[in-house]
Amino acid sequence: MTDATLTDTALIDQSPAWKALLKHRQTLSNTSLAALFAHNPQRGHQFKAAAAGLYFDYSKNLLTDETLSLLNDLANSAQLTSAIEALFNGSLINNTEHRPALHTTLRDFQTDAPLPQHLSAINRFADQLRSGKIQGASGKSFRDVVNLGIGGSDLGPRMVVAAFPERQADGLNTHFAANIDSDGLKDILDQCQPETTLFLISSKSFSTLETLSNAELARQWLNDAGFDSTQTICHFAAMTSQVEKATNWGIQPERIFSMDEGVGGRFSLWSSTGLPIAIALGSDTFKQLLNGANAMDKHFRNTAFTQNLPVLHGLLSIWSVNFNHHRSRAVLPYIHRLAELPNYLQQLAMESLGKGVTKTGQHCTYATGPVIWGNEGTNGQHSYHQLLLQGSEVVPVDFIATSKAHCDPLQHQHLLANCLAQSRALMLGKSYEQALNETRDSGLNEEAAAQLAQHKAIPGNRASNTLLLEEFTPSTLGALLAFYEHSVYVQSVIWQINAFDQWAVELGKTMSTTVFKVLNKADNGDELDSSSLALIKHFHSKPSTQG
Ligand code: F6P
Repeated sequence: MTDATLTDTALIDQSPAWKALLKHRQTLSNTSLAALFAHNPQRGHQFKAAAAGLYFDYSKNLLTDETLSLLNDLANSAQLTSAIEALFNGSLINNTEHRPALHTTLRDFQTDAPLPQHLSAINRFADQLRSGKIQGASGKSFRDVVNLGIGGSDLGPRMVVAAFPERQADGLNTHFAANIDSDGLKDILDQCQPETTLFLISSKSFSTLETLSNAELARQWLNDAGFDSTQTICHFAAMTSQVEKATNWGIQPERIFSMDEGVGGRFSLWSSTGLPIAIALGSDTFKQLLNGANAMDKHFRNTAFTQNLPVLHGLLSIWSVNFNHHRSRAVLPYIHRLAELPNYLQQLAMESLGKGVTKTGQHCTYATGPVIWGNEGTNGQHSYHQLLLQGSEVVPVDFIATSKAHCDPLQHQHLLANCLAQSRALMLGKSYEQALNETRDSGLNEEAAAQLAQHKAIPGNRASNTLLLEEFTPSTLGALLAFYEHSVYVQSVIWQINAFDQWAVELGKTMSTTVFKVLNKADNGDELDSSSLALIKHFHSKPSTQG
């Protein structure tokens, strides 16, 4: 297996395509989104693409046919076609860890053929647990399943399980504890009974402090309820690539669901990390999610860039970050049950694209991953949309909604109307003249009307994408998640960075070990800075527990 993209050491901003885009951007300085729409009544029908149950409207970006053609040239300069092939054919594209990125292989199976071994193991366990065949130590069926995991071992399953509550098995509750703040797990345990609670230790590395600490608290809780060690272990299963570590912790071998090292944490919800999804929503739902993602994979691999949703989205992010200087992006699902999606995408995009060094070790001379943030619409309209519409920081938006009503039909129409209206408001704004007419009409004198109009004018010309899911199903959600995974990959290829490592995360882990020792007075902290030492001194001067 070879890495096709490593040979080229020239930085992408030195390519003719990049330079042409810089020049081209200047030619757009005197136009606006409103003008582009006025000039071309077909624009909304032209700049769109659809696949795998998703409709992608990108017409409200400041771009023309020429922009797309130049972005296409940029993709070719970065050898995007061969990079896509390298992802799918198992090349070692994660070059700093010498690994492939195998997430797409996890959803590449025929619906009518026998399932891959890892998936049938997950689904069998989930089905047996749901049917009450798998029981706790005292012979009672499980009623509560608690996922103990963080980052990629938490955010994906948490988001998918929250998306389809109507598919939850009756009498079976699924919970997620991530943080190393015992109140999180305690709040869950207060709702559970030891005899009927199963804990899933979800950790690819089986060495993450938060997860192992919560697992010990869970073990203690069962012991405190009078379980001996043999009984206690009947209440645990694990999902990990470190089978030996899970075995040493005490997990029974048949309760360890393994995953390949080549499946990155933030790309792992398709692997055994997805066990809570299969348990909570059923193995059929899990399969539908995987099938939807696979449909997007096929589209991504086989479709020309001009119609390729993830390629278009990824290139538009490059256009936004590097040529329009927008350093963040809001992702706003107008779907209540996708309220957890922005958190999930934050890890996917920011852990993948938050790098400043290329795969060959050169410092990037251009901006890379934007800040990703957001929440469910319409809630944000009564909060941060003020800044989106009128603030000095321009933030492009991804609006996400459904075509077919996923909730009360009238409310759905309001939801969609608000979603489309926000993208129009961002695009068109309100001119000073319009605002002045309004303030004059309200009966203010000329001076007061002119004064207030300054505040009521809205700049407009702010970019957004709109993604419509034809209907809200596990399959379209799978396609949406794969769409974002591949968009992230496209961006990483253009920026020449490795989307699949996360070295910076290790620094915080190492430092916290040192600080922990000083807090515990096991080390005097000679190497610590004076701020940290003063904070620790303050901590030591106070009683160690509240109350
Ligand atoms: O700390 C970052 C990280 O390594 C993520 O990449 C990962 O998803 C998370 O921690 C959890 O890791 P693990 O599954 O190994 O416990």
